[in-house]
Amino acid sequence: MLCQLHPLEINPKTGEPFLRLGAPYQNIILTPPRQGDQSVLIQHMNDPAIYRWLERPPVPYLPEHADTWFQIVKKESDATLEFLRKSTQDFPDGPLQFVDTCPVRYLREVKEDGTDVILGDVSFRRSPFEEILDEVERKQMQEDNAKKQAGDPTIQYAIGDWLAASHHGRGIMTAAIGLLMAAWAIPRMGVRHVVAHTFAGNIGSNRVFEKNGFVNRGLFDNGKIARGERKSDNIFDNLPALAAPKPTDLGSELDRYLSTDVERVTNPIGWWNECRKLFPRLSCMAIDYLTIPEHLDAWAPTIFLLILLVSALASYPYPDLTLVILVILTFPFALYLSLQQSQYIWPDPFADEAYPCSVSPPD
Ligand SMILES: CC(C)(COP(=O)(O)OP(=O)(O)OC[C@H]1O[C@@H](n2cnc3c(N)ncnc32)[C@H](O)[C@@H]1OP(=O)(O)O)[C@@H](O)C(=O)NCCC(=O)NCCS
Repeated sequence: MLCQLHPLEINPKTGEPFLRLGAPYQNIILTPPRQGDQSVLIQHMNDPAIYRWLERPPVPYLPEHADTWFQIVKKESDATLEFLRKSTQDFPDGPLQFVDTCPVRYLREVKEDGTDVILGDVSFRRSPFEEILDEVERKQMQEDNAKKQAGDPTIQYAIGDWLAASHHGRGIMTAAIGLLMAAWAIPRMGVRHVVAHTFAGNIGSNRVFEKNGFVNRGLFDNGKIARGERKSDNIFDNLPALAAPKPTDLGSELDRYLSTDVERVTNPIGWWNECRKLFPRLSCMAIDYLTIPEHLDAWAPTIFLLILLVSALASYPYPDLTLVILVILTFPFALYLSLQQSQYIWPDPFADEAYPCSVSPPD
C-alpha cells in the first residue's frame, strides 16, 4: 500500500510524522504543531531579533495571540494529515494526492535524551499578492488564486520563516527551506511559483532565499507600515517551471507515474493531455514524442520531383497533359503540407494555457 504521507517519516513512539534535515543537521526535524508549543512561540515572538523582520505578529506577543495562532496552524496541519491518511485508504496503489499546505512546519532540535525544543517555523500559504498595488486587482488575484485546486501549477504561493536567534547563521534555515521545497512543496503540493518578501536590510533572509535559487526582483515600496515604520520589501521569486527541472523533481514525478495502474487507452495523446497537471513534465515529453509529425518537409522536394517525373513520362506523347496531371497530383499533397504547417493536424495541446512544455534538460 502506498502511504500518502510520503516522504514523511513516522516517529515509532508517538506516531507523529516528521521530516529530518540532511547532514550536518540530522538532529533537526520538522513536525506538525503540538499542544504546548504556545509558550515557546511567545518567547520567540517577543525577541526583537526576530519580530523586527516580521510584519504580522503583534508586539508584545501575548498568550491570547499565541493561542489564536496555534488553533489556526494546528487545524490546518491536522486537516492535511487526515486527508492524507484517508487518501492512503482511498488510493492504496497511488497516485500520491496533492495538498495545498505542508503539515510539518515547526523546526525542532532533538536533544540526546530524545526530547526536543522548537527552533523555528517555515510556512507556505497562498500568495497575498502584496506586490500588486491596485487593491481591486489584488483582491481579484487573491480570489482567483484561492479558487484553484491543490496541485494546480499556476497557483502562486508565499513562503514565511523565522528561526530562534540562538541558532542564526549556522545554515539551518537554508537547509530547511531547500528540503521543504524539494521534498514537499514541489512534489506534494505541485508548487511551481512561490514568492518571498523580505524587509529591506534583512541580509540573512535574503541570503537564505538566494542560496535556494530564488531570484531577487528588487526592492519594492507599497507603502507598507510595520509597527509604525515605513517598510520596503525585497521580492524574491522562484519560478522552477521556467527553470531546468531538478533531478529530484523529475524523479518524484516519474515515481508517481510508475506507481499508477496500467490503463488501456485508445487516445494516448488525449490521456497525456488530461494528465498534464498530475505529470507536468512527463506529459510534455510524451506529447512532444507522440505528436512528432512525419518529416514530410524533408521529403517534400523528392516527392515533388517524383510527381513531376511520373506525370512527364505518363504524358510523353501529349506534352499539354503534363500540366493537368501535375496539378491533379500536386493539389492534395500541397493541401496536406499547408495544413500541417498551420498546425491544424497537430494542434498545440497547451496553446490556451501556460504550461512548461519546453523545458531544457537537467544540468
Ligand atoms: C532570516 C533567518 C530565518 C535566517 O536563518 P539562518 O538559519 O540564520 O540562515 P542561514 O544560516 O541558513 O543563512 C544566513 C546567511 O545570511 C548571512 N547573514 C545572516 N545574518 C547576517 C547579517 N546580519 N549580515 C550579513 N549576513 C548575514 C549568513 O552569513 C548566511 O550567509 P552565508 O551562508 O553566505 O554565510 C533568521 O536569521 C531569522 O529568523 N531572522 C529573523 C526573522 C526573519 O528575518 N525571518 C524572515 C522574514 S522574511
